Amino acid sequence: MAGNRPTQIVVVDDEKYICHIIDEALSAEPYNVEFFCDPQRALDYIKNNPVDLVLTDLVMGDCTGIQILDTTQANHKDAIVILMTAHPTVQTAISVLKKGAYDFLVKPFKLDILKAAIERGLGHQQVLRDVVSLKGQVEFLKVANAGAAEVDIPSFLTLVVDSCKKELSACAVCVTELDPDTGEVIEEAYDAEKDECLKILVSEARELIARLKNEGGVVIRKEEIERGGVPATKTLISQPILVRGKLHGAINVLVMRRFDELTRGQLDVLSILANSAASAIANHRLYKNLKRSYLEAIRGLANAIEARDEYTAGHTDRVSRLAEVIAAELGWDRERLTNLMMGCTLHDIGKIGVPDRILNKPGSLTPEEREKMMRHPEVGLKIISEIELFRPAIPYIMAHHEWYNGDGYPGGLKQEDIPVEGRLLSVADTFDAIMSDRPYRKGRSFRTAMSELIKYRGTQFDPQIVDAFIKAVKQKKVNLKEMYGHDEDLAVIDRLLESEMVSA
Ligand SMILES: [Fe+2]
Repeated sequence: MAGNRPTQIVVVDDEKYICHIIDEALSAEPYNVEFFCDPQRALDYIKNNPVDLVLTDLVMGDCTGIQILDTTQANHKDAIVILMTAHPTVQTAISVLKKGAYDFLVKPFKLDILKAAIERGLGHQQVLRDVVSLKGQVEFLKVANAGAAEVDIPSFLTLVVDSCKKELSACAVCVTELDPDTGEVIEEAYDAEKDECLKILVSEARELIARLKNEGGVVIRKEEIERGGVPATKTLISQPILVRGKLHGAINVLVMRRFDELTRGQLDVLSILANSAASAIANHRLYKNLKRSYLEAIRGLANAIEARDEYTAGHTDRVSRLAEVIAAELGWDRERLTNLMMGCTLHDIGKIGVPDRILNKPGSLTPEEREKMMRHPEVGLKIISEIELFRPAIPYIMAHHEWYNGDGYPGGLKQEDIPVEGRLLSVADTFDAIMSDRPYRKGRSFRTAMSELIKYRGTQFDPQIVDAFIKAVKQKKVNLKEMYGHDEDLAVIDRLLESEMVSA
């Protein structure tokens, strides 16, 4: 079998009785055999039909078995060719084998020798096809390994597309992740050798996916077409990506070849790949849920800490919103913004180790109390360092009290040595701390908060971060009324900047 069709054998010999003998010998075998006494007709057939094995005479009038061999190799990359001759020489045998013939039979031959040569040839072909399939599976295993929990789905789908395109020699591949409940497309990756191929695939992929929902298994649609003036088979395959029996996506492949050569092994590989994609999608969802649960738990903890001190209620939430505005101004990508939300939520988690009497003390702190308070970044680090998921929060926790000029704590780091996450959070955290009521004083005015940021721009704060914050506030990207209860006169900012320039 080659793919879903029987093995196709072509016999070419200008002596009719040889064809008859071979016909009889192979009649009980499960092959399709075509016989040609006219080599020219054989060449036409080989050029236009799928062929697995060719048995040809070496000398046939004007045409030689070498022409048959060349034409077979040019049109069928893994076809087996066995040459037959009644006038053997060692040189002829060596030269045809060198040209890529699989075997060389000397006429007259016994029929069991002929059958054995055909079986050996087809066995060799199967090994070659299995090697291709195994190579494909190795590729797919690489893809499957990449489907581990932390992979991001868009890159994973692109990897699937590349492997698929390469291993199936497809002219277009499109991998789609679907919402299992609504059927909406969540992610999609595709590639094609030509735009026209992609157009064909995209226009038919939706319909194929709709069929997948009803049929549950792989959908294959074949059509005989003309491509570049020669006949070809257009095959569209839609392989479902199923997670616990539910449709979570599909791999759609368009193959256009002169002969329908998709093997069973290639289809198996496609199914393995779909299973890998299903695992990756399921793992990713699980990972996302786990991350969300962890974050909710930690947010609960952060809220519990805030609840110990009525003055800091909502601080974490407001700081997160301010920091997000600054990060957006700096052009941070989606992943960094996700980490920022985590970092802002967890930045003061170490205050769990600061006693209530210090946290809520109305007056100024003694040196010992202050020292205890200043330990909160390190306590925070200890709390989260064992949880791999929260590693991105470390720079926020550790660096939000560092000063740009090196006067901060706990590391006394300077300028660019301070992680940018810490420099950014420092601005948002300070602004909110000044604007909010504290145990030892009422919340200050917007003017005071802005004036502090401007005054300590370059000493406590990274000037670029302060500038980004000022820009965002002036462009009304910070909803001051919602966060602090009233609108502010933004013209204050320019006046402060002017007076700063005068005093400088
Ligand atoms: Fe803090």
